[in-house]
Amino acid sequence: MIKDRTGTTGEGVAPPPTGKVFTGIESLSIVRGQGAYCWDESGKRYVDYICGYGPIVLGHADAEVNEAVVERLNSGILFPSGSPLIDELSATLHRLFPDSDRFHLAKTGSEAVAAAVRLARAFTGRAKVIRCGFHGWHDPFIIPYVSWHKYEIDISRTRPVSGVPHEPSHPLVLTWDGRSLQQLAEIYLKNRGQVAAMVLDPVQLREPVADNLSYICDLTRREGALLVLDEAKTGFRVSLRGVQGLYGTRVDLTILSKAIANGFPLAVVMGRAEIFDRAKNTKLKGTFNTELASVAAALTTISIMERPDSVPKLNQLGQQMIDGLNEVFVRTGMSDSIRAVAYRWPCMPYIWFTGRPERATRLKALFYQRLTERGVLMLPNHMNYICLSHTMQDVGKTVQHIEDILSNDLSSL
Ligand SMILES: Cc1ncc(COP(=O)(O)O)c(C=O)c1O
Repeated sequence: MIKDRTGTTGEGVAPPPTGKVFTGIESLSIVRGQGAYCWDESGKRYVDYICGYGPIVLGHADAEVNEAVVERLNSGILFPSGSPLIDELSATLHRLFPDSDRFHLAKTGSEAVAAAVRLARAFTGRAKVIRCGFHGWHDPFIIPYVSWHKYEIDISRTRPVSGVPHEPSHPLVLTWDGRSLQQLAEIYLKNRGQVAAMVLDPVQLREPVADNLSYICDLTRREGALLVLDEAKTGFRVSLRGVQGLYGTRVDLTILSKAIANGFPLAVVMGRAEIFDRAKNTKLKGTFNTELASVAAALTTISIMERPDSVPKLNQLGQQMIDGLNEVFVRTGMSDSIRAVAYRWPCMPYIWFTGRPERATRLKALFYQRLTERGVLMLPNHMNYICLSHTMQDVGKTVQHIEDILSNDLSSL
């Protein structure tokens, strides 16, 4: 059931030319989720490729995670102390990310990024930071606002954000769009001796990703700054050890969040002991840092993701979707207007509307409206996420729905 809230549209979605106004995914009222599906108030079922914007990596209401969490709930979840569960999580993370021997727990990606920046500033004694990608909503990192989740971001089209001082940009946070390495080198040159950290979301890297990442790593090290790899989206998803594991990249600080706890609020900043030791007088701790239900959820989630078939399945299903959709776009004569691409890695498929902007906007709006009506949740202007509960049948049916929509509903546009 799509609620009609005329006058509001989802981000970047203009009203479609015909039919009901598409008010965006947020206008749905979801009451329940199980595995790859969720249900709205009217009982309508949706196959969910939004997956909570990434955290749902196993599927909704996973039985093993729930069991671990319930056990923890029954023993209390918040103590102002260490805990064997936290020790176990640290040991697990150290095993998977051997370069990191210190860990700080947080609740959200934004909070973890703020903590990493503070650690880097304390370690280097410098103040400036270069950012590349979406790293959360906190003041210094949200301005100028860039649509980072679009496949082709345009950094010249930035927006101010009302309520944030220092608009249009924060004096200590410099923005790089992930394209020209030459431009990055110039930013470092102009700010020599002042940059504490480069905070990088690897999904923004252009091909060849491995070479670009290695160049950025070397440059950052040469300039005496720390490389903070923000693996909030990519950790436990593109590979068990994230992008750094995939390419053997050594980074200074890592951020993990989203898929680490299958929807429970947990984020981690981790790195070498010397960074944490030199920053020992800084303040990072808050009320909920040691909350344990999320730690229990993380331990179970990681143990499931460590099963040999887990990560390959995410990428295989993502690739099935990308290939299936591109075949549909060719069959329906739409391949000049729509393409399915991996948002760098197939486990994050993206539907890319190209061509004349006005037509692309109209197509996109009607496409997502029809898709939601058919019980498929996907995000416009954003990567989608595969979870372990999706099946080849789910993906096959989704591809079929999209073929039907293009053949029947969008053929005249
Ligand atoms: C790479 C990255 N870092 C940080 C964040 C912010 O995380 P949160 O929304 O949990 O604050 C996000 C959110 O999408 C993200 O993708």
